Amino acid sequence: MKDIIEAITSRSSKRKFLPKPVSKEIQEKILHAASMTPSGANMQPWVVYAISKKEVLDKIGNTIISHIEAGGEVDQFIQYYPLKWKNPYKIRRITTGVGLYEKMGVDRKDKEKRQELWYDNYRWFGAQTVFFIFTDKNLIDGAQGALIDCGAYMQNIMLAAQAFGIDSCPQGSTTEYGRIIAKVLETPDNLALLYSVVLGYEDNSAIQNSYQPARVALDEVVTFID
Ligand SMILES: Cc1cc2nc3c(=O)[nH]c(=O)nc-3n(C[C@H](O)[C@H](O)[C@H](O)COP(=O)(O)O)c2cc1C
Repeated sequence: MKDIIEAITSRSSKRKFLPKPVSKEIQEKILHAASMTPSGANMQPWVVYAISKKEVLDKIGNTIISHIEAGGEVDQFIQYYPLKWKNPYKIRRITTGVGLYEKMGVDRKDKEKRQELWYDNYRWFGAQTVFFIFTDKNLIDGAQGALIDCGAYMQNIMLAAQAFGIDSCPQGSTTEYGRIIAKVLETPDNLALLYSVVLGYEDNSAIQNSYQPARVALDEVVTFID
């Protein structure tokens, strides 16, 4: 079992996984650990679909890719990214993207290749388990607290996974097609998809898995008032 600081600092998003399943036992251990995430008034606003059935993952991914290929718009419950990117976030986003494409030897101007790489999101990067996290629409109707709680839940899923030797990638790429995913899964009407987390065993030989984007210095984001 990894020390907590080691789990936090050694985690990074993986984008190629081995075709090796994550056992139900480990999935349950991860979900048990994540269930201890604190939430306002102990709301526990997360609702999880833990999917390992290949046909279902294929159906979700293929439906999204076909929708995009047909020129379909995003079809989402929540808007994750800012509508207008401004600095310093714009430059951080570009730097991170450029770094990944450079590592993979992909020309940033090669739109086709970039699109193909983006589609890997909907092929779950080759992993066999994806957790889809929903919340109740009522909780986010004019309030944002449940989003904070579900964000903490996301990190605890990834850290618990890390502790059990399971790698992960959080996905906002599914947030954008949340309504399509809800339709495929026939989830109850009150649920809104927030994000997904891909879980599996990283492919160590994949160059993209060695990418660890840098973080800004503490003094850029922290104000100490001593
Ligand atoms: C809410 C959220 C959504 C994300 N969505 C995606 C995604 O759809 N596809 C992807 O490849 N990475 C996604 N990421 C991963 C980020 O790009 C990554 O966390 C960031 O670049 C920092 O890198 P690291 O996770 O390796 O430390 C997402 C991360 C978060 C927290």
